[in-house]
Amino acid sequence: MAQILDGKALAAEIREGLGREASALAQNGITPGLAVVLVGQNPASQVYVRMKRKACAKAGIAAIDHDLPAETSEDTLLQLIDQLNADPKIHGILVQLPLPKQIDEARVIERIDPAKDVDGFHPVNVGLLATGKPCFVSCTPAGIMELIDLAGIDIVGKRAVVLGRSNIVGKPVAALLLARHATVTICHSRTEDLAGEIARADIVVAAIGQPEFVKGSWIKPGATVIDVGINRLDDGRLVGDVEFDAAAERADAITPVPGGVGPMTIAMLLKNTVEAAKRTTVR
Ligand code: GUN
Repeated sequence: MAQILDGKALAAEIREGLGREASALAQNGITPGLAVVLVGQNPASQVYVRMKRKACAKAGIAAIDHDLPAETSEDTLLQLIDQLNADPKIHGILVQLPLPKQIDEARVIERIDPAKDVDGFHPVNVGLLATGKPCFVSCTPAGIMELIDLAGIDIVGKRAVVLGRSNIVGKPVAALLLARHATVTICHSRTEDLAGEIARADIVVAAIGQPEFVKGSWIKPGATVIDVGINRLDDGRLVGDVEFDAAAERADAITPVPGGVGPMTIAMLLKNTVEAAKRTTVR
């Protein structure tokens, strides 16, 4: 039976440490401030934003809420970003995605000051990551690396297969694994012989948003399996992108859903925000 990588416990530990750092900063007159911008009423986004705001409060980070109506114009949102960029009390800016269709997401992301881009979505941060330079790394990929390190496995020279090529997860996690000297393959919906690719992987990162798509029988014995999926089934059950029970029989380490990658994402957001606040002290 595989080691279960407990993201919930690791995230709690990280958040405690960040809480101590935040209070030390506050004693020096700098309370880390995160602007949390939600446009419209996407139910999933509302849940995520509520969790992020709650986690900030617990860690002593000031979450400054901006809830805008669904019909907000792109210009209005860009003006808000300009204002947040200029505000010294705001160290991080988070614009929850997706945005309503009248707003061009890329234009909004590009307007955020890269030094306040705690989501790591700005092309400057993406470019720094791709070239192996220090930057804000998007939160889910950063959390995945922490979980892999928790498993205590050596990444150097290992075969890693990333399933999914999104800008938020697949591409950045591939860049991070490559930076740690893994041999990285990115697979997606058009990949031929997906089962064969996964069967060769020492590390599998599944991020395609399809319930139990990765079969346990595909997993190489001894592999590390990171499941980024959160899928709600018709019967109400929450499952990942991997067949958990069958995969856990073959893997050495595996993340559960829920309680694996999810909690780590929020912990990394707080970490990036504290880091952004710290940087203002050394300017
Ligand atoms: N939508 C889905 N995931 C994310 C995320 O990590 N950050 C933001 N801002 N929006 C998201």
